[in-house]
Amino acid sequence: MKEIKVSQKLQEARAYEHKLQSVIPQEQRPSFHVSSPTGWINDPNGFSFYQGEYHLFYQYHPYNNNWGPMHWGHSKTKDFIRWERLPAALAPDMEYDGQGCFSGSAVEHNGKHILMYTSVVEKELPEGKRLLRQTQSIAVGNGTDYEKLDCNPVITSDLLPKGSSKEDFRDPKIWWDKKAEKFYAVIGSRHEDTSGQIVLFSSQDMRNWKLEGVVERCHREYGSMWECPDFFALDGKQVLIVSPQDMLAKDLEFHNGNGTMYITGSYEADTVQFHRETAAAIDYGLDFYAPQTVETPDGRRIMIGWMQSWDNHITPADFKWSGLMSIPRELRIEDNRLIQTPVRELERYYQNRVSYNDIIIGDKAENDIALAGICGRQFDMTVEVQGDAAACFEIALACNEHYRTTLLYCAEENTLTFNRAYAGIKKDIIHQRTMKVDNRNGAVKLRILMDKYSVEVFVNDGRQVMSSLIYTPLEADGIRFSSDRHVTLNLVKQDVVVI
Ligand code: FRU
Repeated sequence: MKEIKVSQKLQEARAYEHKLQSVIPQEQRPSFHVSSPTGWINDPNGFSFYQGEYHLFYQYHPYNNNWGPMHWGHSKTKDFIRWERLPAALAPDMEYDGQGCFSGSAVEHNGKHILMYTSVVEKELPEGKRLLRQTQSIAVGNGTDYEKLDCNPVITSDLLPKGSSKEDFRDPKIWWDKKAEKFYAVIGSRHEDTSGQIVLFSSQDMRNWKLEGVVERCHREYGSMWECPDFFALDGKQVLIVSPQDMLAKDLEFHNGNGTMYITGSYEADTVQFHRETAAAIDYGLDFYAPQTVETPDGRRIMIGWMQSWDNHITPADFKWSGLMSIPRELRIEDNRLIQTPVRELERYYQNRVSYNDIIIGDKAENDIALAGICGRQFDMTVEVQGDAAACFEIALACNEHYRTTLLYCAEENTLTFNRAYAGIKKDIIHQRTMKVDNRNGAVKLRILMDKYSVEVFVNDGRQVMSSLIYTPLEADGIRFSSDRHVTLNLVKQDVVVI
């Protein structure tokens, strides 16, 4: 491949992040989650396997901790746990993407790494009106440097079905279909009824694209615009992942406003017919959005999401970086439900295994306990609780005399509540979220992954997940267990150590 020219704007971003990264203390960063190199990150982009390594890009504004003109930051890994930071990959340096290189995806093809992203133009017209256009563009590269195609943008809103918005058209997820010998891409779009739709395009040469059809429509049922789609076959079903904006909460579902959802169904590719079967939230925590997947060479479907909410920014003011990604999660479909478990590669980094069996709490004297060896801020801990059908059982994390974050399981109501009200946040933001869990007659299994500031809870072997951030000072590393009635506890804890 000929040498790729790096624009002035990208050179400046690379120089800036290089300088700033050296002043961010390593101890301040999560150790097995991707975090922003410097400044702001949001959505994962371009999660792909290229020349033996997994690449992850992200929406990136290196210059401060606020969203701004979007670049693509870049990291890579061999095992989803130990990540290496690479120089920023894209900057908004062309006329057609001058207001941002928005979210997109990547695929390896003929030895080249192909990025497909949303190019954004926003300007004031002479008569005072604002013009906003979102189109799709391509950059081809070698794993470090990427060259934008001279025929960009390759898809404009002119190709959309009649009545689609020209302003909301973004976040292409590209893949190569071996059998059809074509690229396909699903893209978020907005229908004239103002709600989201997912459109499918195809191309043989990644330059000329054709509309294949509309895969699915929101019909104003789940939020408005559907962002960041992904579409793949898994365990005999077809799965559509979307991140809907403006969601209306129903009972204990869809409380995030900007939410995430998976839809399972069957798919007839010839006629672009997706038949919906079930729809549910992907994550019930306070901080999870815009997930994207990659398929591994051994056939696993792995998903990663942005672990931050659009509405509650709690990054401490003195941090020079803001935003992190979830743990990459292996996906399966069971009983038409999406099951998520942390990638198995995590186990390679386990140390200091501590386990307890048949610990009883809630019997008068002992209703709030700590256990020797059970503490810390970087661990993978599985707790199995079984007991009185009316018990309320609580785990306090990151606690000391000033702070605590709690997970409260109420057996009678079959609910799990995350609460960070005392995690050290000095702002009036959302602290608490409750979700319904399966009724297992007073039994629940919680796998808790903490990496300094993040708490990801995998409930009942990954049948539901709850991901949230806390920025509690790191010295608060206690863990306590309490219950108002008799329960029995089994637990295993491993530290996760990445050196
Ligand atoms: C989702 C999103 C995408 C867009 C990007 C901009 O979080 O709004 O739709 O491409 O962020 O940063």
